Amino acid sequence: MPISEKIRKDMSQGSWIRRMFDEGIILKQRYGNENVFDLSLGNPVMEPPPEFHQELLRLAQHPLPGMHRYMGNAGYPETRVAVAKQLSLEAGLKFDMSDIVMTCGAAGALNVVLKTILNPGEEVILFAPYFVEYINYIDNHGGVPRILPTDERFLPRLDILEAAINKKTRAIIINSPNNPTGVVYSDGLLHQLAELLGRKEAQYGTEIFLLSDEPYRKIIYDGLKMPVSLQHHPRSILVYSHSKDLALPGERIGYIAINPTCEQREELTNGFIFCNRILGYVNAPALMQNIVRHLQQVTVSVADYQRKRDSLYAHLKEMGYSVIKPGGAFYMFPKSPIEDDIAFVRELQQWQVLTVPGSGFGSTGYFRISYCTTDKILEGSLDGFRKVAQKFGLG
Ligand SMILES: Cc1ncc(COP(=O)(O)O)c(C=O)c1O
Repeated sequence: MPISEKIRKDMSQGSWIRRMFDEGIILKQRYGNENVFDLSLGNPVMEPPPEFHQELLRLAQHPLPGMHRYMGNAGYPETRVAVAKQLSLEAGLKFDMSDIVMTCGAAGALNVVLKTILNPGEEVILFAPYFVEYINYIDNHGGVPRILPTDERFLPRLDILEAAINKKTRAIIINSPNNPTGVVYSDGLLHQLAELLGRKEAQYGTEIFLLSDEPYRKIIYDGLKMPVSLQHHPRSILVYSHSKDLALPGERIGYIAINPTCEQREELTNGFIFCNRILGYVNAPALMQNIVRHLQQVTVSVADYQRKRDSLYAHLKEMGYSVIKPGGAFYMFPKSPIEDDIAFVRELQQWQVLTVPGSGFGSTGYFRISYCTTDKILEGSLDGFRKVAQKFGLG
């Protein structure tokens, strides 16, 4: 057997997102691209902002000496300085270059952080529904995922969290704005959560890291100001990505920022830099680092995403779906009108509408819609949503 038993088993469990994506390819071959309404992947159809292409062109026309060589594993000092400066403005904490490590996207950043902090068998708490790759990433580094339910608004329940934390708890991962629900955690909730972590650390004499995965931080609606997760707990680590804010998921560029008030920040950052190297990332892509350092204040059109959210939300409500209005990101997580979310998603598929069952995110009875797609595809999907709603007696 060329593949290890473990990987064979993990592969067979697979990801629902990828499965729907692959089935979509078959449907597109059968019905034609324009007749398949693929709302399965969080892969923005938006192009990067014009500033991105300007920087790319500038670098191509005026290459920097040595710009394709190896560099320090933390990334270019100039890029880390630019990130630290922007984060300081946004977070009200004073970051400097040494608090920042450039990574291959948020996925790379999460793996680097987990590799750095986890001892074998330590637990990492997740709140369902969650970004499904967290399970693989925790497993990659010998950790054990501990999955907790959320309340009816998809927010962590502090009573359940309090009961779940034990002396093996090493980290909790939060993700706001959230994939798959679009909910944004309030400042008050973050404060209470941090207070609880501090209390539990004192009770068990342990260190518990708050790992805040925020690739959607800049995609936030209704003029809401993004609460700062790092402000409340000293042992907090931010993971960021330019996959969504600059629509660059194929370019693999993001970063880790350690809370500058964390006493162990130097040791931690050295660990991150080392793990970036030994995991084989070596460093974040050089070309992208040279570009994004000039784009720290640039974002794709959030107004456009908000318009898509408003339109889709209004249609789904009118059809009778039960759905929480997202405050950010580009996903919705409506309730499935029947208990079996997989059967429901299959039903939508009959109308060439591709979504992902909630089971793929650890929450049965729901389904995820990704609306980072064209208006044409979103409009085209409405007929299918309506037909299935009628079939199951909504409205
Ligand atoms: C919640 C969450 N975390 C992390 C990632 C990984 O992002 P990146 O492309 O930066 O690796 C994604 C991508 O969709 C995501 O939704």
